Amino acid sequence: MASKLTIEKLADDGRGLVRVDGKVAFVSGALPGEIVSARRTRRTAGFDEYELLAVETPAPSRVAPPCPIYDRCGGCDFQHLDHAAQMAHKSRVLLGQLERATRQTPAFIDAPIMSAPFGYRRRARLAVDARNRKSVRVGFRREGSADVVDIDQCGVLEPTLAEIPGALRALISRLDAPRRVGHIELQSAELNDETYPVLGVHIVGDLGAPDRASWCSFAAEHRAYLRFTAESENMFAVMPHATPPGYVLPAFGVRLAFEPGDFVQGNAEVNRTLVARTVEWLDAKGGERVLDAFCGLGNFALPIATRGAHVVGVESRATTVALARRNAADNRLTNCEFMVRDLHQSPMPIANKPTFDAVVLDPPRSGALELVRWIAQRKIARVLYVSCSPATLARDARVFVDAGYRLERSAIVDMFPQTSHIESMCLFTR
Ligand SMILES: C[S@@+](CC[C@H](N)C(=O)[O-])C[C@H]1O[C@@H](n2cnc3c(N)ncnc32)[C@H](O)[C@@H]1O
Repeated sequence: MASKLTIEKLADDGRGLVRVDGKVAFVSGALPGEIVSARRTRRTAGFDEYELLAVETPAPSRVAPPCPIYDRCGGCDFQHLDHAAQMAHKSRVLLGQLERATRQTPAFIDAPIMSAPFGYRRRARLAVDARNRKSVRVGFRREGSADVVDIDQCGVLEPTLAEIPGALRALISRLDAPRRVGHIELQSAELNDETYPVLGVHIVGDLGAPDRASWCSFAAEHRAYLRFTAESENMFAVMPHATPPGYVLPAFGVRLAFEPGDFVQGNAEVNRTLVARTVEWLDAKGGERVLDAFCGLGNFALPIATRGAHVVGVESRATTVALARRNAADNRLTNCEFMVRDLHQSPMPIANKPTFDAVVLDPPRSGALELVRWIAQRKIARVLYVSCSPATLARDARVFVDAGYRLERSAIVDMFPQTSHIESMCLFTR
């Protein structure tokens, strides 16, 4: 049965929040102030969930989603909200979480780091459903479901990648064994002034010679770097250039090579500003020692090293650490070193002496509680935390504040416009 609801506000995860007879309920796709018609789909002890059926009185911040499959695709969840309102929501959530956890607001709130609101995304994991070769689907999964929503063309992907999902569907439908294609890691690489697609294709079982030939001609036609990521196919790659895939940080004269599956920040334009601001806020000088925790390919380590400090990068993935070392060598940076460590382990397996003057940490969504305790005990003077989860950031910020750190600056990092993902950076000082 449909109910008429008046939405109170946006919950931290971007859903409309309303109280029905005193009980909290969430309505995906509904905005504050709207009167909507919705149907209850789930009841729990603490809250209910409703499906939005119709918006009867729209909010002024509501916009028409440009994507024709927005109502089905799980790739974006904020296209119905004006971009300025998306930013205001992200800022409110970040500051609210920090304030509740630490009873502090940042001494300075810097301008958000932003890019073009569409055509920005340079990395996506595409799901493939090829159970029926006549209706192969390549795209993102529907929110909260295993269903693959077929994409022809995606408006948030960088122009180099936007039409690749549709082209992949056509290719997979022609293969001898379409069902052997698992997921596909899609990324874009930069070389000189060219941007080209990078495909990490997960094959289940063996790839026959005709299918291999089809993949090779696809890579040639799209000037794509192609690698099969299953164990048995690991060595097979098609390369459009003699140089391996990578991306550039022109302000630092650095290029970072990567392989499909390595973590690369999802928005090139935002990442360039994020790195520049990280280097500026950290302000590490020659003679200082900096820890880059969760360093990936050296996205922060290498630019910091170009300014003269000695950087120690730590990361759990051995192949990524090997690439980070190669990236340092290729960029002729001898003042950085990299080590493989699991930073969720306690006590921290990083040498205690000499200690560090500053730390940049960029953990996954689970945050970095063990590392943060370790940093706080050692009273390291400057800590820059790049976060993709305001909740775990706030939890970890409390450890710093309780240990005598001050929340010096913060900024929203709008890595994924049109989605409710909230990324941010915070500087803590003693
Ligand atoms: C958000 S990414 C950041 C990477 C890098 N800072 C960048 O800007 O590209 C997080 C990185 O942490 C690594 N990682 C995940 N869990 C880890 C752990 N327990 N210990 C160390 N590194 C981990 C991942 O492999 C990934 O490279």
